[in-house]
Amino acid sequence: MQTEEYLLEMNNVSKSFPGVQALKDVKINVRPGEVHALMGENGAGKSTLMKCLFGINKMDSGQIRLNGEPIVIDNPSQALRSGIAMVHQELEQVPQRNVMDNIWLGRYPRKGLLVDDKKMYEDTKKIINSFNMKIDPRTQINHLSVSMKQMADIVKAVSYNAKVIVLDEPTSSLTEKETEALFEIIRKLKSDGCGIIYISHKNDEVLAISDRVTVLRDGQWVATENICDIDSNKLIKLMVNRELGNRFPPKNKTIGETLIRIEGLTSVYEPKISDVSFEVRAGEILGIGGLVGAGRTELLESIFGLRTVESGAVYVDGKDIFKSRKHSKNAALTMVTEERRVTGIFPQMDIRWNTVSSSIQKNIGKLGLISMKKVEKNTQWAVKAMRIKTPNLKTLISTLSGGNQQKVLLGRCLLNEPRILLLDEPTRGIDVGAKYEIYQLMIELAKEGKAVVFVSSEMPELLGVADRILVMSNGRNAGIVDAEECTQEMIMTMAAKYL
Ligand SMILES: Nc1ncnc2c1ncn2[C@@H]1O[C@H](COP(=O)(O)OP(=O)(O)OP(=O)(O)O)[C@@H](O)[C@H]1O
Ligand SMILES: [Mg+2]
Repeated sequence: MQTEEYLLEMNNVSKSFPGVQALKDVKINVRPGEVHALMGENGAGKSTLMKCLFGINKMDSGQIRLNGEPIVIDNPSQALRSGIAMVHQELEQVPQRNVMDNIWLGRYPRKGLLVDDKKMYEDTKKIINSFNMKIDPRTQINHLSVSMKQMADIVKAVSYNAKVIVLDEPTSSLTEKETEALFEIIRKLKSDGCGIIYISHKNDEVLAISDRVTVLRDGQWVATENICDIDSNKLIKLMVNRELGNRFPPKNKTIGETLIRIEGLTSVYEPKISDVSFEVRAGEILGIGGLVGAGRTELLESIFGLRTVESGAVYVDGKDIFKSRKHSKNAALTMVTEERRVTGIFPQMDIRWNTVSSSIQKNIGKLGLISMKKVEKNTQWAVKAMRIKTPNLKTLISTLSGGNQQKVLLGRCLLNEPRILLLDEPTRGIDVGAKYEIYQLMIELAKEGKAVVFVSSEMPELLGVADRILVMSNGRNAGIVDAEECTQEMIMTMAAKYL
């Protein structure tokens, strides 16, 4: 084996957790100046492999070589000192501190006994400028958008002069434009001779940015291929071990009465919503498209009552739900938020409590106490319906793979038996196979006569799943089109209408 050509090699890596063998004899190697994609379904072992590299998980067996030399990595700080950095799937920043604090935390430059604020600012600025990013080092982290937070984490990785940089699903919450900016950064890192391990569920991106790809399935190495020798279909086949015919299930054909009607909804806080009206009928799926910042999430939040609304009304069964608490309760409206990992999970609790937490009253037994039998039955339903990959129902949610955590949250929302579902980016971070299942689930729900409204940044998904598409532009409704008669170009044009 020509060890010298590799910057990094991992061989024969195995890792078990109670009840799961997450990795079995896995290998990956990275050349200098290479983007090496790491792909596989939710729970395939991608994050676990990278956590072994970064010293978060201890390997049961396996070897790591850096520049041809064997190396043992026991903890993240050692990994960083050795030139290995990782931008995590779940960002771990301190929200109340500013960008530069987060970057230099624990290794502040000092001037005598004091922190050298000026040097810290300048060092941070230098990296930010070298990547043409637009972040002020003094901005508090929680004032940044998800994408900016991600950028800040990349700046941190670079600040360690890392030679190997792991990006775990960096674009899952980025827009196309932001993704392009990230790719610029990746190209620069490449030209500096860094090796980048890039985890993603987005085939197109992987094919566009990577040089090679390694695919894992059920914790095992399946293949390492040159990107030029592979296409999207072959990639999917390697990941799921079967041909995936249609990407979208057939739509529901029977549409009923209007279930929810939104009239002149206006919310003045930025990003604002201005005078948005539309209606959704039973059995119908309405997709919401538009650019990030166009007010798509804010629209859902306004309908759901999470935002102050200045004017407008939301009618369910002909009654304004803002006017009466009872109506909003009976409206059976449910929402799954975009930043699910931040706002949605109870990390210290197991899958059962995470699943039933918003439908507790359905789990009360004869004596008025919570019935564990019911809790388990409901959780079991969600696990089955969403195909959640977990050793058992008592598993802590935080030990599930990212995609599987999201499925738990979708399951939770469905247990409320909602009639109207508001879903913000429901398939984000979810693998191709599971995406199909979620589409199918949405269409099933429509067939049961529910109304589904979902926001998506993926245009093929809007066209493939929705019956009609509402395009938001700068807080306004730029038009509603029939998915059958719509194209990606039309959505783009409408999205720019009020810019
Ligand atoms: N700390 C842990 N304790 C127990 N099980 C774990 C732990 N970390 C990971 N696992 C299990 O190991 C398997 C692999 O998970 P991993 O997070 O590596 O998947 P992944 O490929 O990154 O998936 P995703 O695309 O959903 O992020 C899963 O079955 C997961 O539940
Ligand atoms: Mg992962």
